[in-house]
Amino acid sequence: MKGPQMNSPAIETTGLVKAFGDTRAVDGVDLVVPAGTVYGVLGPNGAGKTTTVKMLATLLRPDGGEARVFGRDVVREADAVRGRVSLTGQYASVDEDLTGTENLVLLGRLLGHTRPAARDRAAQLLAAFGLTAAADKQVKHYSGGMRRRLDIAASILNTPDLLFLDEPTTGLDPRSRNQVWDIVRAIVAQGTTVLLTTQYLDEADQLASRIAVIDHGRVIAEGTQGELKASVGAGAVHLRLRDAAQREAAERVLARVVDAAIQREPDPVALTARLTAAAGDTAAAEQSARALAELAAAGITVDTFSLGQPSLDEVFLALTDHTAGGEEAA
Ligand SMILES: Nc1ncnc2c1ncn2[C@@H]1O[C@H](COP(=O)(O)OP(=O)(O)OP(=O)(O)O)[C@@H](O)[C@H]1O
Ligand SMILES: [Mg+2]
Repeated sequence: MKGPQMNSPAIETTGLVKAFGDTRAVDGVDLVVPAGTVYGVLGPNGAGKTTTVKMLATLLRPDGGEARVFGRDVVREADAVRGRVSLTGQYASVDEDLTGTENLVLLGRLLGHTRPAARDRAAQLLAAFGLTAAADKQVKHYSGGMRRRLDIAASILNTPDLLFLDEPTTGLDPRSRNQVWDIVRAIVAQGTTVLLTTQYLDEADQLASRIAVIDHGRVIAEGTQGELKASVGAGAVHLRLRDAAQREAAERVLARVVDAAIQREPDPVALTARLTAAAGDTAAAEQSARALAELAAAGITVDTFSLGQPSLDEVFLALTDHTAGGEEAA
């Protein structure tokens, strides 16, 4: 046991806040990121992902709350934190006019490697990331996927204990995304903790062992994939009525039967009921069958009825309705 970092989580924040003028970009975030894993921070545009990452990487000073990285305070012990983390930003940071090799060698030299050591490491990373053929091309001629891979390579020249990847695959095609995912898996296999931000549920699903969903600067759900699927990925019943005038009655019947939130759609004959059971569960099938039977018994004509997974939009809506409703009313 050598100090506070031995058994600490990779990241621990309590009530972390950052405001830009009137915007509370990060509004009281509590996170615990276990060491040695990929942790996903999932959220839509403007949720506060980049701002959170920047505070954790010591690039922005928090306005409130606390954050520790391997037990070190990101403000009071910023140097100690900086020595252990690396960040691949949302926008590529490599120099467009230099080649892949030149970029990596330059950065290696800045990190204090000798020229031969920097060249070796550059060649090794370019090979590992499938960029050997492009090593001597200027980065401005790289595709988006090649650039992203070079960017990640640049951030692990010195193997960090904690790597922040801010939307590493936004804008990439499926093949390039898969390549980046493989790289992330390889980095974690070597013992680095990765905090990954993403707008894609499937990306968090593929890589992360725990996921925090953030919106409007707040964590609105957190857990393992299984836990999130149980709450977030619950089944949804979509139905369309023959007659819009029966919608209120239908809502009452559904509320009684499915024991879950009922949502009115813009279309006046449509309703969505989020179930507490996941779409594949027999409980979900039973609930929907009972709902149909009771709607019929109440004399309500249903034109179409389907049971499925909610879309990601519905998931975000469900989660944000849940937490922001009271505040908006206030
Ligand atoms: N330097 C800044 N000055 C003013 N407002 C900012 C600044 N940086 C971020 N914001 C605001 O803070 C909020 C959160 O932004 P942030 O970049 O952290 O979101 P994000 O989750 O990374 O979004 P995206 O998915 O679009 O990258 C947004 O409303 C944004 O406009
Ligand atoms: Mg961002």
